[in-house]
Amino acid sequence: MIKVLLFVLVMHVIQESSCAKILAIVPVPSYSHQLFFRPIWKELSKRGHELTLLTTDPMDNPPQNIKQIDWSSAYELRHNKHNITKVVQENEYNIPKILASYQAMLNEIVDQELSHRDVQILLKNESEHFDLLMVEYHHPVLYAFSERFKCPYIGISSMEIANYYHKTLGNPIHPVLYPEILLPFERDLNFNERLLSTLYVIYGIYRKLSYANNIEDEMAKKYFGENLPPLKTILRKVSMVFININPVFNVRPLGPGFVSIGGGIHMEKSKPLPEVKIF
Ligand SMILES: *[C@@H]1O[C@H](CO)[C@@H](O)[C@H](O)[C@H]1NC(C)=O
Ligand SMILES: *[C@@H]1O[C@H](CO)[C@@H](O)[C@H](O)[C@H]1NC(C)=O
Repeated sequence: MIKVLLFVLVMHVIQESSCAKILAIVPVPSYSHQLFFRPIWKELSKRGHELTLLTTDPMDNPPQNIKQIDWSSAYELRHNKHNITKVVQENEYNIPKILASYQAMLNEIVDQELSHRDVQILLKNESEHFDLLMVEYHHPVLYAFSERFKCPYIGISSMEIANYYHKTLGNPIHPVLYPEILLPFERDLNFNERLLSTLYVIYGIYRKLSYANNIEDEMAKKYFGENLPPLKTILRKVSMVFININPVFNVRPLGPGFVSIGGGIHMEKSKPLPEVKIF
């Protein structure tokens, strides 16, 4: 937090004369996720910062100071190999099954993304450095880039984040008030929903502790070296978290490092309708 504040302050003072090198990572192959981030990358680039963007949806004609690595092959895994749409359709209320499929899919996607040739070149380049990592806040293995480049990092999400992160960073996760994002209900829960939401929290903790954490740590070590600290430790080092939620509709107390950036930043200025004469 202090590092980021200092960074912002310093950047403010030397505004025109210097720029930061930012590593931006958006791993989830979903257009609605990716679209949300674009105005942020464009604005940072307009202010003179240099970006290296790892994305499943590279922009056409990006500004000169945005370098992109193309992860679009992740869509292949999502649609063809895992067909997550089908899994959700066929297991509507089997939440553990859906969650396990999502997680298996995400793990495989991130594994494939990290083994991408250009990412390997980036990771192995000893003279490469970044001042800041901005990373989509859904898969902890990717936060290890902040250890590799010894830079602070900001988590950023186009939607509400998993309760596991809220819990780790000290925000309340009471199951009756804040059901997990993947559950098919929100706000005023009836008795069954409250029960399901509570069981889900217990199941989630069991899952993380019994195997999910290990799988992620193993994967991180494969790409970032055996000396990498546990991801749990890296998770706590996050400087700030920007979430696209509107505090009016998503009422939850958040720690000082959290910023709700809900409010349609993804929306572009509307264009006038074309003047087509029908009659
Ligand atoms: C995925 O599953 C859906 C629903 O069952 C189906 O309509 C679609 O064709 C499948 N997609 C692929 C690429 O197989
Ligand atoms: C390594 O990083 C430096 C600094 O960004 C860059 O100038 C150089 O071209 C990179 N080398 C490779 C092989 O990508």
